[in-house]
Amino acid sequence: GDRVPFYGEHQAGIATPEQDRLAFAAFDVTTTDRTALMALLGSWAAAASRMVNGQEIGSVETHPQAPPVDTGEAMGLGPARLTVTVGFGPTLFDDRFGIADRRPAALEPLPSLPADLLVPERSNGDLCVQACSDDPQVAFHVIRNFARIARGRAVMRWSQLGFGRTSSTSQAQATPRNLMGFKDGTNNIKREDLAAMDQHVWVGSETDQPWMVGGSYLVTRRIRMMIESWDADFLADQEAVIGRTKIVGAPLGAEAEFDTVDLAAMRDGQPVIPMDAHIRLAAPETNGGVRMLRRGYSFTDGTDPATGQLDAGLFFIAFQKNAHEQFVPVQRRLGQSDALNEYIKHVGSGLFAIPPGLSGPGDWYGKALF
Ligand code: HEM
Repeated sequence: GDRVPFYGEHQAGIATPEQDRLAFAAFDVTTTDRTALMALLGSWAAAASRMVNGQEIGSVETHPQAPPVDTGEAMGLGPARLTVTVGFGPTLFDDRFGIADRRPAALEPLPSLPADLLVPERSNGDLCVQACSDDPQVAFHVIRNFARIARGRAVMRWSQLGFGRTSSTSQAQATPRNLMGFKDGTNNIKREDLAAMDQHVWVGSETDQPWMVGGSYLVTRRIRMMIESWDADFLADQEAVIGRTKIVGAPLGAEAEFDTVDLAAMRDGQPVIPMDAHIRLAAPETNGGVRMLRRGYSFTDGTDPATGQLDAGLFFIAFQKNAHEQFVPVQRRLGQSDALNEYIKHVGSGLFAIPPGLSGPGDWYGKALF
């Protein structure tokens, strides 16, 4: 069906087969009242549990002199496989709410990384919500109504819409293409691989904070693509930059998309997959076996007024057990040597602890934390 279950061991929106559309928002908490923060997280949970069923969060037909409780734009659109995934940024654990001793070691802020060009207004935040759906208006409805519910308690810090998935998270999905025209998500962790999910994605008993067991850590990176220069690059170079063929998506030197990546293959004394190819530098074999679940989206936000060039790219989303051991070393390597760097800029960044799933009505995001 088109309804994704809301309650369970893990929050939906991670192992869920990636939907087509994204609305993401980060919030800063403005209240310093711990009870008000808890109430906000409870109201968000109650609202999300309704929206994923295609229901309004409250009456649209209120008193004529009062604003409708639900804004109304998702009426009649159905659940559209909506998932709502909520997380906590490192700054939530400063002294404001008396939870500083509950901050997991893994929620240490990300270090600055090579080639970072991060803009503070597109980065970080106390809270985040990832709304994914096959209908863009159903996804947007979530962040809009979350912002309304938060009034007086939290304000939206930044947001990002994504119009097309750039990954696949299930063996049942075809691999989509990113804005560079390459298949993306081929070698991703797939939900059917339960051992890989446990090894690389879900927080287990290794955590220093039991309230995080069953959760995960989310890294977001708003990666702008220099589309105009990419489009002027010749095909063989594009393929050398990625390390795969453009049409089929096969690793260079192989035939089919899902053929094994052979990093050792040589031809005429040269590596078949170049030393600076993206898939070589990102591969688990190059990074001590490290993997992550990628779940990103393409975005375009019009043109850059400074240059007239497209402000478009990939809103990178990755889930993992510990970003400091997974995303960080891989991105350090990519930021130093990836051939892709000529064509991309990391302009936004976020790290969020994603608490486990909710058990049923009355449970809320991070209830075990407070
Ligand atoms: C693989 C594109 C950024 C990690 C790939 C593939 C493409 C691609 C086309 C090959 C297909 C696949 O296996 O999914 C891009 C583009 C990026 C980007 C266009 C930026 C705009 C990143 C970042 C990371 C990353 C920031 C992590 C720090 C990976 C990993 C793989 C991969 C782990 C799989 C490598 C393997 O096991 O073969 N990417 N990527 N990518 N990418 Fe990226």
